[in-house]
Amino acid sequence: MTSQPILIIGSGGREHTLAWTLARSPHVSQIWVTPGNGGMNWSAASGVAACQSVPIKAHEIEKLIDFAIMQRVGLVIVGPEQPLADGIVDRFQAVGLSIFGPSQAAAQLESSKAFAKTFMVTHGIPTAEYACFEDIHQAGEWLHAFGRPVVVKADGLAAGKGVLVCDTVEEADAALRLILEDRQFGAAGNRVVIEERLSGKEFSVLVFSDGKTIAPMVVARDHKRALDGDLGLNTGGMGAIAPAPDITSAQIEQVCREIFQPTLEGMAAQRTPYVGVLYAGLMQTAEGMKVLEFNCRFGDPETQVILPLLDTDLYEVLLACVEGRLHEIELCWKAASCATVVLASGGYPGDYAVGKPISGLDAVGDDVMVFHAGTALESGQLVTVGGRVLAVTAIGPTLDAALQKSYAAIERIHFAGMHFRRDIGRRVEI
Ligand code: AMP
Ligand code: GLY
Repeated sequence: MTSQPILIIGSGGREHTLAWTLARSPHVSQIWVTPGNGGMNWSAASGVAACQSVPIKAHEIEKLIDFAIMQRVGLVIVGPEQPLADGIVDRFQAVGLSIFGPSQAAAQLESSKAFAKTFMVTHGIPTAEYACFEDIHQAGEWLHAFGRPVVVKADGLAAGKGVLVCDTVEEADAALRLILEDRQFGAAGNRVVIEERLSGKEFSVLVFSDGKTIAPMVVARDHKRALDGDLGLNTGGMGAIAPAPDITSAQIEQVCREIFQPTLEGMAAQRTPYVGVLYAGLMQTAEGMKVLEFNCRFGDPETQVILPLLDTDLYEVLLACVEGRLHEIELCWKAASCATVVLASGGYPGDYAVGKPISGLDAVGDDVMVFHAGTALESGQLVTVGGRVLAVTAIGPTLDAALQKSYAAIERIHFAGMHFRRDIGRRVEI
């Protein structure tokens, strides 16, 4: 295999981690990231390919195609869900470009919760009881008759904010009004899914898929709430660890057999084979693992703790998925733990200020990886431009050792208003 330029689409910590990992593959000669961020520009060094951010947005599909052709990229990797839901994979494939990710039809597992629920029921995949509505009165009637706690979800993509976990019927009524009447999530809220509210430990299980074969990654745990003790609002994720210490390999095999394999077979039977990363948010209930949601891409910040543990060449894995020969690949993982702690802007996930200078990154040791999300380089100064700013990541022989390294590095980093959780990886009951 000769070495090739590649293109990564996206701008967050997930994409920085993809670029960091792929830069270490001998098959990759140059990395382009669109639009990238303040951390995704580096020159080639021994054993590491150069990376450069290019200001093209993910929805500018024609421009991206022109760029990929001009740069002769050998493989395109799509980070976020929106371009996948918009059909970016179909468009690139139509002009003969090699691209990693599901088709628009397959991405419906994430882009429509109603689609995902119908699919799961049809194919016997364990998930919460549910009903789906466009009419608020019918939804209200069902809710009152159901009589148990619920979760109300906007059908479409809502940047992780369209899920409202309700304690009371009044809260659920308010959630229905917010989505169906006030149109808080726009067209993503044309329909709602109302689900029984489950309880139990959560796991992020991600697998590579070539449409027929799956290869599971190490299981991760995300920390979605903004504040310590799992308090505060839901965020995109404030930190993650891998491997989750409280799931056994027998349980992972069962999840593959009872959740992922039937999903792949079901998608293939519907003539929409699923190629890419499939991510299931799972809850361990008294009746076994159930799917809370599917995502059609790598998780953020799960990717930041999964990929640093991967010993197999990621480029080879992605190409094997695209070429339908994943069965040829054996994934090898480091016998270690990885932790990442997100440094967020003051006020996130609500309103926050931007443009705050970031300092201290030079003082962080080489054994800590600082993946950039909401950063930009302005006249040579690194500044904040987003809610989640940096993901401070470390590997250690134990989870504790990894966490200690991340938290020690954070003491050196500063920007005005910076906040982070101090209990990432701490609330694990084994
Ligand atoms: P989702 O984006 O669908 O994963 O939902 C975000 C978060 O809402 C999940 O990580 C869970 O903590 C919670 N959640 C979603 N669905 C349910 C459910 N049926 N029961 C309890 N909690 C849920
Ligand atoms: N960490 C949650 C997600 O990527 O959807």
